[in-house]
Amino acid sequence: MAAPIIHGVRTVGVLGAGQMGLGIAYVSALRAKVPVLLLDKSKEQVSSSLKFMDKLLAKDVSKGKIQDIEAKEARDRISVLDYDSHGIEGFRDTDMVIEAVSENIQLKRTLFKSISEAVNPDCIMASNTSSISITKIAAATIPEGVSASSEQGRKYAERVVGLHFFNPVPVMKLVELIAALQTSQSTLERARAFASACGKEVTTSQDVPGFVSNAVLMPFINEAIMTLEKGVATKEDIDKTLRLGMAHPMGPLQLGKRPDFIGLDTCLAIQQTLYQGTGDSKYRPSVLLERMVDAKWLGKKSGKGFYDYQ
Ligand code: 3HC
Repeated sequence: MAAPIIHGVRTVGVLGAGQMGLGIAYVSALRAKVPVLLLDKSKEQVSSSLKFMDKLLAKDVSKGKIQDIEAKEARDRISVLDYDSHGIEGFRDTDMVIEAVSENIQLKRTLFKSISEAVNPDCIMASNTSSISITKIAAATIPEGVSASSEQGRKYAERVVGLHFFNPVPVMKLVELIAALQTSQSTLERARAFASACGKEVTTSQDVPGFVSNAVLMPFINEAIMTLEKGVATKEDIDKTLRLGMAHPMGPLQLGKRPDFIGLDTCLAIQQTLYQGTGDSKYRPSVLLERMVDAKWLGKKSGKGFYDYQ
């Protein structure tokens, strides 16, 4: 069956095969039904992500959520680009690239510069960043010596947009859409249509640190960590309070609960961006969070966070 064209998007490149990139590739292939090119420096990461994807598809089939043929077609839509032989050049013929690498502004700016050099002049360049300024990322796509306000300069930056998915992507129903100062209306509409085709509800946020979601979520998580740090209650009781008292699906500490789930390093990076970007002390990361990251106790992904996952 021919792949659908969603606002000019026929093929999607996903940069980063971690838990977010994997989820984005999954919903793009299964829900939006578009061919996906997946790229990651780490072959191990790609291979473990694809194994997890096979498990998810098999689970959805066994629960009758999708048919066997749909799972097979979705899996066949995903191709892996070899980093050593293709690199970002492999995204040349895609209509949209979604970046899902770690929360590091320098890394993202460097990658967006490379993406903008590699792709065709209509390709949308989306970042799944949780908190970093889309305007700053967009500015990195303008070639050296080209004025940001010239028509040529604007043609690069206007195709950059924030598409913020939530973890776990196959389950969470939301995508936050963020326009940089430079983003064009057509880019926004195409990105919104694509997120909808992935089965997501779309909200929009201005390009402020943390957007709506993390500007609200991170002080909540940080307050829970400080409550633990002060010895007000055990981690189990803090989580139970929020789960049973406020009907949150997860407590703020577990993943079992959230920061362990999100990754403590990611939580810290987001909080640092919020704190630096606003100067507001409500975003100052707790000392305990910094120490946990120093110790490389990063949550579920490293086997230990506030809870043990061995
Ligand atoms: N990937 C794909 N699917 C997953 C999954 C994963 N990592 N983890 C769980 N699921 C699926 C399960 O397979 C199951 O599917 P099924 O209904 O077909 O059987 C379904 O989710 C429910 O899983 P469980 O029954 O095992 O467990 P729970 O009922 O506890 O649900 C949860 C798990 C969906 C993760 C739920 O606990 C939850 O909603 N937690 C809150 C998650 C959250 O807050 N996410 C946002 C984080 S913030 C963020 O992403 C922003 C970023 O910028 C930091």
